[in-house]
Amino acid sequence: MRKLIAGNWKMHGSLADNEALLRALCGGLAAGVHADVAVCVPAPYLAQVQALCTGSPVTWGAQDVSAHEAGPYTGEVSASMLRDFGCRWAIVGHSERRQYHGETDEIVARKAQQALACGITPIVCVGETEAERAQGDTEIVVKRQLAAVIHVVRHCISEIVVAYEPVWAIGTGRTATPEQAQAVHAVLRAQLRAASASERRVRILYGGSMNAGNAAALLAQPDIDGGLIGSASLRAHEFLQIIAAAS
Ligand code: PGA
Repeated sequence: MRKLIAGNWKMHGSLADNEALLRALCGGLAAGVHADVAVCVPAPYLAQVQALCTGSPVTWGAQDVSAHEAGPYTGEVSASMLRDFGCRWAIVGHSERRQYHGETDEIVARKAQQALACGITPIVCVGETEAERAQGDTEIVVKRQLAAVIHVVRHCISEIVVAYEPVWAIGTGRTATPEQAQAVHAVLRAQLRAASASERRVRILYGGSMNAGNAAALLAQPDIDGGLIGSASLRAHEFLQIIAAAS
C-alpha cells in the first residue's frame, strides 16, 4: 500500500507564500512520486490550492469540517462546500480543535460522518496528552477516541484514515520513538480490524514533530502508513525529503 504524506498547514500561509510553497512542491514531485501526497490548508485558500494543484500529484483537503450538513451555523464550513473545491481529505478531531474548541469524541465522529457522506476521506486524529501517558492511559484514550468514530461510521470504516498524534509531540520537537509509535499503531490496527468486515487496510499515519531527520525510521515501522506533518510541511524542501522517505 502506498504511504500517505499529508501536510497540516494549521493557521499559516498567505496567497504569496502558498504559491511559492506549492510551486516548489509540485516541481519537486514532477519527476515522479511513490507516495500519496496531500496538503490540508486553511479554508480560504482552497480555491487557490485547487487552481495550483489540479493535474499535479498533490491532493488537498481541509483542517476541519462542520458536524452539520447545512443551516444556521455561523462560521462553519460544510463538507459539501469542501467538495465544491475538490477536497479529497478533511482532518477531524485534531488535538488543537479538541483542546481549544471543545470538540468531544461525539462531535468528531459526526464530523467524520459528514465528510464521508460527501465522498471526503476524514483523517481522524487521536492521541494522548503527556499526563495521560504518564498515568499509563495511552491505550485507553486512543481507543476511546477511535471507538466513537467507529460507532458512527462502522459501515464504511475502511474509508477513513486515522492519525495517531501524541499531544505531547505536536509542535514540540519531541517525537515519539518509532517503537512507541508502532506500539500504539498496533493497538489501533487491531481495533480497526475487529470493527471492519473489509480486508482493506486502513491507513494509520503518525503525526507529531515528524521531520526529514526522523521520518524514515518512523515510516519503516510495520503499522505506520504515512505521516501527518505540521511545521515541516511549510518548508517545501523538507516536506519533499519526508515524501522521499515514504517512497
Ligand atoms: P507538528 O504538527 O508536525 O508541527 O508537530 C503535527 C500536527 O499537529 O498535525
